[in-house]
Amino acid sequence: MATIQWFPGHMAKARREVTEQLKKVDVVFELVDARIPYSSRNPMIDEVIQQKPRVVILNKKDMAKESEMSKWFAFFKEKGALSVAVDAKHGKGLKQVEAAAIEATKEKFAREKAKGLKPRAIRAMIVGIPNVGKSTLINKLANRSIAQTGNKPGVTKQQQWIKVGKSLQLLDTPGILWPKFEDQLIGKKLSLTGAIKDSIVHLDEVAIYGLNFLIEHDYDSLIKHYKVDVPRDAENLEWFDAIGRKRGLLQRGNEVDYEAVIELIINDIRNAKIGAYCFDLHDEMKDIQDDDE
Ligand code: G4P
Repeated sequence: MATIQWFPGHMAKARREVTEQLKKVDVVFELVDARIPYSSRNPMIDEVIQQKPRVVILNKKDMAKESEMSKWFAFFKEKGALSVAVDAKHGKGLKQVEAAAIEATKEKFAREKAKGLKPRAIRAMIVGIPNVGKSTLINKLANRSIAQTGNKPGVTKQQQWIKVGKSLQLLDTPGILWPKFEDQLIGKKLSLTGAIKDSIVHLDEVAIYGLNFLIEHDYDSLIKHYKVDVPRDAENLEWFDAIGRKRGLLQRGNEVDYEAVIELIINDIRNAKIGAYCFDLHDEMKDIQDDDE
C-alpha cells in the first residue's frame, strides 16, 4: 500500500511528468475505483489529459454495485469518454480494455491511414491516484509481474512497452496523480475504500460515514453481517456498542473498545465483506458534476 505525502512541489512535478509521458501515447486509461468513480479522480485530470482520447476504467468492480456503475458509464459517455469496468485483481473484464482503446483511437488511426502512414500498435498509459489498482492492472494485462506499487508521484524512469493483445502497447509504469483533498466527504470516501490510509480524515468519522451509508442503503445486510439487532434509527454509539460486544472487542472494565470497532467496520467495508457498494451515488452528485464543468 503506497503512502504518498503530496506537497505542492510534488503535485507540480507529477503533473509535469505525466504530461511529458502523455506525448508518447495515443490513448490514456484513466483508472478510478468503481466504488467512487467520481471521488477517486484526480481533480485536474481534464486539464492534464486535455483532448487526448481517453478510456475511463472503473477498477475493483468486484466490490462495486452494478446498477450504480451503469449510471457512471452514462455520465462518462456524456462527457465524451468511453468507460469500462474491470476487476484487475481477478483478471475480469480485461478484454474490454483493448477493445475500448481501439474504439477511442479509431478516428486518429483512420486519419493516419488516410495520410498513408503504416498501421501500428496503439500506445497507451494508465493514469490515476494511488491505490486504485494501477500496478495490479498493468501486471494482469502484461500477464506477468512488472509494475510495482510506486511510492513516488508522477512516473518513474526507464519505461518499456508491454504488448497487450493484438493491437495495444502499454507503458509499464503508470502516471500517479494526487487525489482530491479539499472536500471532507470525498476524504471519507477515499479512506473508506483504502485510497488513502494515512488519514486526513479522522477514522471515527470514516466509520460513522460508512455505518450510516449502510444503515440507509443496506440495513438488512448490516445487521445480518454483525448479527446484531439494532433499530435503524439508533444512535451511532448504540451500533458501536452492539457490534463491539458481539465481537468481544472489549477492554478493561468490560468497556467496548471503540477504536477496535472503528477499525473493524472500516476494514469490513474496505474489503467489501458486508456487500458491494458505490459510495458515489450518481443521482445525488449532479450538483458537484455541474460545478466541475
Ligand atoms: P496502485 O498501483 O494504483 O497504487 O494500486 P495497486 O495495484 O497497488 O492496488 C492497490 C490495492 O488494490 C491492492 O491491495 C490490490 O490488490 C487491490 N486491487 C487492485 N485491483 C483490484 C480489483 O480489481 N479488485 C480488488 N478487490 N482489489 C484490487 P492491497 O491490499 O494493497 O495489497 P494486496 O493485499 O492485494 O497485496
